[in-house]
Order: sequence, then C-alpha cells, then structure tokens
Amino acid sequence: MADVTNRAYRILCKRYGADYCITEMVNADAILHADSGALGRAESADEEGPYGIQLFGSNPETMGEAAAILTEKFMPSSIDINFGCPSSAIMSCGAGSALLGSPDKIYSIVESVSEATEIPITAKIRILDNIDDTLEIARKIESSGACALAVHGRTAKMGYSGVANHEFTRRICEEVSIPVIANGDIVDGPKAAEVLEYTGCQALMIGRAAMGDPDIFHRIGSYLENGEIVQAPACEDKLTCLSEYLKLLEEFDLVSHVNLQAHSGWFLKGLKGARKMRSSLQGVRDPEIILENLRRICSEGV
Ligand SMILES: Cc1cc2nc3c(=O)[nH]c(=O)nc-3n(C[C@H](O)[C@H](O)[C@H](O)COP(=O)(O)O)c2cc1C
Repeated sequence: MADVTNRAYRILCKRYGADYCITEMVNADAILHADSGALGRAESADEEGPYGIQLFGSNPETMGEAAAILTEKFMPSSIDINFGCPSSAIMSCGAGSALLGSPDKIYSIVESVSEATEIPITAKIRILDNIDDTLEIARKIESSGACALAVHGRTAKMGYSGVANHEFTRRICEEVSIPVIANGDIVDGPKAAEVLEYTGCQALMIGRAAMGDPDIFHRIGSYLENGEIVQAPACEDKLTCLSEYLKLLEEFDLVSHVNLQAHSGWFLKGLKGARKMRSSLQGVRDPEIILENLRRICSEGV
C-alpha cells in the first residue's frame, strides 16, 4: 500500500502475524532510471524474510526490464503487478486500473515480466462492471504466466467506497486454476472465515484494517485456526506497538520519509481519548515526544 507498507511497517506486520507482505507500488520507469526513492521502496531487510515487490507501469518492455533489475538487486520472493490502482495520477499514465480495459495489454505485460525473471509473478486486479469481462481478465492473467491473482472486489469507479463484492472473486476462483487471493473489507476473524468459505479462495489480503493495527493478522489467524476471538489491543499495547514501529523507522532511516502524524494517528483508531491523543500529535516531528504525549494521555485514562 502506497505510503503505508514501507520496510519498517512490513516488518512490524510480520512480527504481529502477517504471513507475507508486499511493498508499496513501485514505478517501473523510475526503476529503469535508478531512482533512489523507487529503489528504496523495493528494498527489504533480513528480518522480513520472503516478501513481494509490487510494480506498476504500462509498457510491457520496461515492466520486464524493471523486473529483471529488481530481481538482480533484491531477490524478492515474488513480483506483483498492479492492475488495480484507481488514482488519476496512475491511470493517466495508462497504468493501474486503466489497463483493465485492455486485456491484451495485460497479457503482454504479465508475459513480458514473467519472461524477464525466474521469480514468481502475481497480479492484482479490481473487478469490472460485469462478470464476463472480469473473467476474461483473470483468464488472460493466468495464461500469460502469473502464478497467483489477487482480486479487490470493487470496481475502479468505486474507489474505496461501497462494499466489496466477493461474488466476482468466487466466480474467478471457479474459473482459474492458479491460487486466488480475496481482498476487500476483511476486518476481523469472522469476516475472514466468511470470505474464505464463500469464495473458495486460497488466501486473504488485508489492506486498510492493517493500518495502525498489525495485530489484526494475529487475531485473524487465531480465529481461523481455532475459532478464538482475541480482543483488540488496549491503549498501552497499541503504544508499545507504535513504539516498535517508530524504532524500526529510525533503524531504516525512514522517519523523514513518512508523515509521522498520520502514521502514529492510525494506531489510535478506536481508543478512548483518540481525539485528544491525535491533537497532541500536531506539529510534532520527534518520535520520543510523540510517544511521551500519547503515554501521558493514555495513563490519564481519558
Ligand atoms: C492508502 C492506500 C494505499 C494503497 N496502495 C496500494 C498499492 O500501492 N497497491 C495496491 O495494489 N493496492 C493499494 N491499495 C489498495 C489496497 O491494497 C486494497 O486493495 C484496498 O484497500 C481494499 O482492501 P481493504 O478493504 O482490505 O482495505 C491502497 C489502499 C490504500 C487505502
């Protein structure tokens, strides 16, 4: 997730139970120009273990070249291709969900990337307005060499609004033989179990619910394994988790690369006194002071 799943955050998610994480989307053209920002987004660290790099772009050749460079530099465990981003900046370059109208181009991109590297290639799509067009895209992705497909059950037009439609994902699961990863509105164990059962998918992908709440992976895992409902962490545990994250950001020299106020604010979601805690973050750029302020308010039990 752009501006979310930096190296530090992915490691935090792994520590709290995520099986596998994928980088922020990385621009293929920027990789060809050796752009340090794009290369930094693609990098991992030993503690993370297996991880995926997500690439976006519109040109099959440059996408393939970028995949070859990323393979040589970072040896990720997979490279994912973004066919879902609905932002106007990405779509105006013909990338992300702009490609969903061109199944043949999608085929060429996946084929070119698959041929450029030995690393498994996956793709992530959004659904289209009708099931036949959606199934055609899924079939193209499978036949062009991808080894798994993630499906966000919203159309590009929906952005992040409305409710994810997992019926299309279920139909895709029946249609293709590669593993399908269902995505959209999975926020807790019962929802995860429902989507797994309903779609018949092989894996689940969690997006927004993991922002500021990496423990969600452990809670969902416990529910799926033994039906146990684990309570969400209380204020002090949330702040311990945030403190771990801030340390990781410092370790990887990422403090100045993220919006600290926004990232810290995500950890406060649902806490009593969240509003007061959020206002204490305003204008503060020092991780130590952020934690000090939040701990004080938390201990006041506001
Ligand atoms: C801030 C933000 C950044 C995102 N960046 C990406 C991205 O870089 N690549 C991608 O495939 N999806 C991206 N997404 C979409 C999510 O991966 C996911 O598909 C979507 O949020 C639906 O899942 P959810 O309901 O679990 O959040 C982003 C979403 C958000 C909110």
